[in-house]
Amino acid sequence: MRVIHTVAEFRKWRKGAGAGMVTFVPTMGALHEGHASLVREARRMAGAKGHVAASIFVNPTQFGPGEDFGKYPRTLEADAVLLETAGCDAVFVPSAEEMYGRNAKHETRNAKPASVTIDPGPLGTMLEGDIRPGHFAGVCTVVLKLSNIVQPTHLLLGQKDYQQQAVVREMVGDLNVPVEVVTCATVREADGLAMSSRNRYLSDDERAKAPVIHEAMMWAKERYAGGERNAGALEAGMKQRIEQRGLTVQYAVAAHGRTLALWKGKIDGPCVILVAAKLGGTRLIDNEVLSV
Ligand code: PAF
Repeated sequence: MRVIHTVAEFRKWRKGAGAGMVTFVPTMGALHEGHASLVREARRMAGAKGHVAASIFVNPTQFGPGEDFGKYPRTLEADAVLLETAGCDAVFVPSAEEMYGRNAKHETRNAKPASVTIDPGPLGTMLEGDIRPGHFAGVCTVVLKLSNIVQPTHLLLGQKDYQQQAVVREMVGDLNVPVEVVTCATVREADGLAMSSRNRYLSDDERAKAPVIHEAMMWAKERYAGGERNAGALEAGMKQRIEQRGLTVQYAVAAHGRTLALWKGKIDGPCVILVAAKLGGTRLIDNEVLSV
């Protein structure tokens, strides 16, 4: 596997990859089995003739003031082993200067990250975008920049960040980005906790409590399968179950699967439940699709 640090070098690699399939998994590193499964799927899709690319870049512009940009785990050596084992051909690991040039000295999106940025639209201002203002502008800008550098045929994202994949799909459609977005299933620990680079922030006690988010979503899924269609009843039940274990719920909602508009009253279309909760200093998010 090639480890490439500059745009110029990556463009050379991309030229060599030719006109066939190039699948791409963008990451911020601190990789885990969830990322490995994305890369394995990227390898499966590309086959022996295609190419698999990944990126590792802790993107400062998607972190807000007081968020964990500084402490976000940087584990490049282990990440490279995981990527290569999963079938990656080339990983792009740029510096902030390489990505943002003269604007890179600014550490978070509070400061001007680039002259031109992407407005993620209404999908980017609700839920995560409401709690983390500017987050999806940072995500969209970096994903578009990475797509322009890597020029993949397919961009693979995890369902774990449901709103992120929805916002990126919207951007790709609206801006005619020539790439197909592929969303891959969330990978979970044996007790149901969704894998996340941020799980390593949890203390033992917090780790023991964290699966309650999945348990609450499974409760809602069962109620839905049993015929419950009242959004408020599902939301209240999830919130109560999660808060019983000492987590602080930021949102626990039933939303339209594509527009993310919150269901009010009766759910009568595609539905995803989305949860964000704080456990000590750690924010956890998760989701389950109830109907497509
Ligand atoms: O999901 C992530 O790790 C990041 O948001 C992404 C897509 C790599 C953009 O920085």
